[in-house]
Amino acid sequence: MNRIVVAIGYFILMTSDLAAAELERDFHSFANPEHVRVRHVDLDLQVDFDKRIIKGEATLRIERTSADRRQDLVLDTRGLTIRSASSSAEGEEFLKADFTLGDHDPILGRALTIRLPEKVKAVRVQYETGPNSAALQWLTPSQTAGKKLPYLFTQSQAIDARSWIPLQDSPGVRVTYSARVRTPKELLAVMSAGNDALAKRTGDYRFEMKQAIPAYLIALAVGDLEFRKIGPRTGVYSEPSVVVKAAREFAELEEMVRACEKLYGPYCWERYDVLVMPPSFPFGGMENPRLTFASPTVLAGDKSLVSLLAHELAHSWSGNLVSNATWRDFWLNEGFTVYLERRIMESVYGKARAEAEAVLGRRSLERELAELPKADQVLHIDLKGRQPVDGLTDVPYEKGALFLRHLETVYGREKLDAFLKNYFNHFAFQSITTAQFAAYLDEHLLKGDEEKARKAKVDEWLNQPGLPGDAPNPSAASLETAEKNAREFAVGKVESADLPVKEWTPQQWLHFLNSLPNTLTRAQMTDLDDHFSLTKSGNSEVLFQWLLLSIRHGHAPANERVETFLTEQGRRKFLKPLYEELMKTEAGKERARAIYRTARPSYHPVSVETIDAVVGWDKKP
Ligand code: BES
Ligand code: ZN
Repeated sequence: MNRIVVAIGYFILMTSDLAAAELERDFHSFANPEHVRVRHVDLDLQVDFDKRIIKGEATLRIERTSADRRQDLVLDTRGLTIRSASSSAEGEEFLKADFTLGDHDPILGRALTIRLPEKVKAVRVQYETGPNSAALQWLTPSQTAGKKLPYLFTQSQAIDARSWIPLQDSPGVRVTYSARVRTPKELLAVMSAGNDALAKRTGDYRFEMKQAIPAYLIALAVGDLEFRKIGPRTGVYSEPSVVVKAAREFAELEEMVRACEKLYGPYCWERYDVLVMPPSFPFGGMENPRLTFASPTVLAGDKSLVSLLAHELAHSWSGNLVSNATWRDFWLNEGFTVYLERRIMESVYGKARAEAEAVLGRRSLERELAELPKADQVLHIDLKGRQPVDGLTDVPYEKGALFLRHLETVYGREKLDAFLKNYFNHFAFQSITTAQFAAYLDEHLLKGDEEKARKAKVDEWLNQPGLPGDAPNPSAASLETAEKNAREFAVGKVESADLPVKEWTPQQWLHFLNSLPNTLTRAQMTDLDDHFSLTKSGNSEVLFQWLLLSIRHGHAPANERVETFLTEQGRRKFLKPLYEELMKTEAGKERARAIYRTARPSYHPVSVETIDAVVGWDKKP
């Protein structure tokens, strides 16, 4: 009898341990940091624009993390050709090492297992990237602003660092790195590391990243780049023809850094520069440490889209200083960051602007929740067997931010700010899971006041679909007016000429467009376009919403702009919904495929993968 109880008890313990282990495991990496962990990556890269490959040598400083000294080193790779591997007991002399490449997994790539002697300090791998490396985009001169020189850039998040460097590609593994990068000598190389703005163009560049970061933050760009200073710690890099406009648009960058420091503690990365990318950059922004990569589609000319910079900057705390340990904890990066982004916007551009953006965020989330399967509506999402980018919805971003805002409502701003500041300090330069966050939250915010802790509804926020009934519902008077205008316009109560657009901010425009139904008449669409030249809008977000409406309504005067917009920029967030909308009708399908045929070669592999699936692209010729 007793034995059975013990056995059952043991079984429960085992399964709960197993369950806990399941929650902590990174399903998107083959690596074995629990036995052997990479601490430093030293790169020697040759960027070959003719062959469109990087030839590399990666020297990884490693440490055994378990007592089992027979364990080999397991690295992640995808599409890499491995030339040789060697290992070193002291880090100086390297001896040839046996290695094997595992079977190819379409999402994860291939495990590279390197045989290690018992005593080992470093391994060295000689390799080449493949022709379709998922992280790399090689641009011909005609795809750049200057039209004269080629360009290369990387995008490693989420699991594409392994397609240009053999390493432990799990966000739970942090490394320092150093690099030597050789390029054609007319070009400048920059990395997510210390950059020398005054570097002479020699075609031979060196970098050092002293702070330990996850692999997804390793980044490189090579092109005809120029630097312009903004503040003492801040500046922009871009192709020469863009740099003045960019510096003007980002004039408040230094102020943003100070604002965030004041709230959440010191900026830990020395410099904060922004690299404005070529238009094919697949994301709005990417928080590569010390050097955010930003899409040129944020250069609206009136600073109306700079919340994107506030966002990428905020990642210097939430994401880069304290990182998600696995991709199911992605909301720890993005939800915190959207919350911080709005706080930065509030302190630099005022409460009205920040609140308007919060309203847009919540509305966008509501629209998305209406379509998403329940399992994908939870913050602590299960992504096993799927691409991490499948988790790239408004849920980690906007629901995550609302959760923190909810905690702000329950505990007050002062308490939450102090909590967050301590949180960043406590977990600085670590990667943590949702469970670790929840435990810290419990200990440092919830404990001691049961009533408030009940109101916090942590489990519901983390593990239940949808939004709790008492989720924060931001409001902004300026947007309420725009919404009312949209309603009245929709029912024909007012016409374009009556709309009070003179003082409308781009946020009001976005809300107005978002609030229109999908049942406008042809005349109403034409009326709007004639009055406000929306098809010619220079604001990428406004244009995007307008083109979406135009496709929905068969507004033919926008057809050409749909085509040019889909061809001249490659931001996944804009491409995906527009192609999806086109694919809803037979005629639209034809158009989508025709446009895609022309545009596909100019997109980054990340966008290609997404849009291939949307339009049902047949990869086999
Ligand atoms: N880190 C993300 C971009 C990302 C996420 C790339 C996951 C690959 C996988 C970045 O910080 C981001 O969120 N960018 C947003 C802009 C932001 C203002 C919401 C984007 O690119 O649209
Ligand atoms: Zn982000």
